[in-house]
Amino acid sequence: MQIKNTENHYGLVAISLHWVIAILIIGLVILGLYMTGLPKNPEKLKLYGWHKEFGILILVLAMLRIVWRIGSIVPLLPNSIPDWQKLVAHMVHWAFYGFMFAQPITGWLMSSAAGIPVSFFGLFVLPDLISPNDVYKAIFRETHEWLAYAVIVLFFAHVGAALKHHFISKNDVLRKMLP
Ligand code: HEM
Ligand code: HEM
Repeated sequence: MQIKNTENHYGLVAISLHWVIAILIIGLVILGLYMTGLPKNPEKLKLYGWHKEFGILILVLAMLRIVWRIGSIVPLLPNSIPDWQKLVAHMVHWAFYGFMFAQPITGWLMSSAAGIPVSFFGLFVLPDLISPNDVYKAIFRETHEWLAYAVIVLFFAHVGAALKHHFISKNDVLRKMLP
């Protein structure tokens, strides 16, 4: 398996980043929705801490991914796919990239506005992005929540399209993203 993308297949780096980030995002959406419903107790605080640390990890991986993506060729979609579908696919991919940055950053802003510093796996503490402020805290919490709902919709569209290509159109769109 090639490290870099070719015209016909994603390479090892793009595939690894795609699946690691996908699993982390799915996990964090589920964890986020679960932990916010818990009563206030030490367990909830522990889960909030994990949520933030893995969320920042996504931000770090997203930076690597975007650099890699900009410097790579992107495998072509089959000619049988209509242009409008290719355009929608690209828009969904770029919306995902936007999300990979916007979601961790709104989370970080929310924590700063709440006056709670964000630790990165106990290695170091991230600087606060803004000073404590209840209005901003509420705005970033709402934004964080609605971005999560938006990504759930995008996720089902993206997975639905991948499965449709694989099982109905029987082309190699999904295989290109598999090792
Ligand atoms: C891509 C990464 C992330 C995803 C997918 C994600 C997803 C979510 C989701 C689905 C919720 C529940 C929303 C709700 O029902 O109110 C949530 C809540 C929360 N997230 Fe994230 N999050 C991410 C990154 C982060 C980061 C990096 C931080 C902070 C550094 C953070 C801080 C929080 C906090 C504090 C809450 C609880 C808000 C409340 O108590 O209402 N998140 N997140
Ligand atoms: C939240 C989870 C996911 C995110 C954020 C995500 C994001 C992306 C992005 C940004 C791309 C563009 C290629 C790149 O730059 O790496 C892509 C391609 C792709 N993804 Fe996902 N993905 C997710 C989950 C999935 C799942 C679960 C599947 C399979 C069922 C899947 C199948 C594919 C396929 C087949 C491609 C290649 C499409 C093409 O060649 O145009 N993805 N994904």
